[in-house]
Amino acid sequence: MSLTYPLTRNPQPKTPDQVASVLADPGFGNYFTDHMAVATWTADAGWTDSEIRPYGPFHIDPAGAVLHYGQEIFEGLKAYRHADGSIHLFRPEANARRLQTSAARMMLPSLEIEDFFTAVTELVTVDAHWVPDAEGEKSLYLRPFMFADEVFLGVRAAQRVTFSVIASPSGPYFAGGVKPVDIWVTDSYARAGAGGTGAAKCGGNYAASLIAQYEGYQHGCSQVLFIEASGKDRVEELGGMNVFLVTADGTLITPALTGTILEGVTRSSVLTLAGELGLTTEERQVTPDELFTGIREGRITEAFSCGTAAVVTPIGSFRTAEGEWRLPENGLPATLAIRNAILDIQYGRVADTRGWMRRV
Ligand code: COI
Repeated sequence: MSLTYPLTRNPQPKTPDQVASVLADPGFGNYFTDHMAVATWTADAGWTDSEIRPYGPFHIDPAGAVLHYGQEIFEGLKAYRHADGSIHLFRPEANARRLQTSAARMMLPSLEIEDFFTAVTELVTVDAHWVPDAEGEKSLYLRPFMFADEVFLGVRAAQRVTFSVIASPSGPYFAGGVKPVDIWVTDSYARAGAGGTGAAKCGGNYAASLIAQYEGYQHGCSQVLFIEASGKDRVEELGGMNVFLVTADGTLITPALTGTILEGVTRSSVLTLAGELGLTTEERQVTPDELFTGIREGRITEAFSCGTAAVVTPIGSFRTAEGEWRLPENGLPATLAIRNAILDIQYGRVADTRGWMRRV
């Protein structure tokens, strides 16, 4: 049976003036809407107690399993306002499916795709006035997540789990918008290894990336690129985004999904759109040497990161302790064509011929 999410309205919602002031300059991840979706799972009863309730803290026991063993997963997707005022989600089924895959890896329960979709759409419907107009590439960022909520210190899969969705009006993830970002390439820290959790969207992957990202900040970079741990011969992904390279002969290359890389929804959309834009696409191994010499010798002419939050953000340079490999300033023809193609679909500026958008 499908879950329903009965609504308990927030008795103290933000005033229209407060909402307008947030939407004028939301930044990323700073503000949250008036409500949240919540559901509880227990091993005995399955999913119950689904509801939309006022946004507010959870009551978590100090012995709650997530605080000790990090059994947690999350998703990220956005709601876009189109010129006619309607609101649309981009490929929510893909996020719902990935939450199921992450849940399986982290021994969390599976949530039906339709139950995920209902939670997201009911929340967006009640907080629809928080979805910004499209100008400035604003949207309502949605963060579904699931965590072990059992009061128990033994190490085993929790028998009680909470699923929730919160919503945060957002502007560009990187403050500079489409300004190219510099990327620190680390081989001191690994994000994932064979058999690990690299393909799951779990909080621990991001916690593990922070020290490398901090190393990057210290070298003037805003993101970090990880190299595969065992052979150090495969470029993998950035701390929170997938990576793409464009070659002088019009090939778009991204590291293949080897079980250690997150299967990005934006990544797969970029691969589809790039083919239609006349680029040849390759999902394969990229060695750090191919990346660096390719840039130095002019074979790699553009690079970009992509993800729900980052959309498509150009990369200006890759840096290591040994040096810097700077991409040419060439007007980014492929990067911007792909970026515009995806944004045009998301904001309803072109027809959605692939059925990617779902109206709320
Ligand atoms: C997203 O793009 O939705 C993510 O979850 C990545 C994070 C860096 C915000």
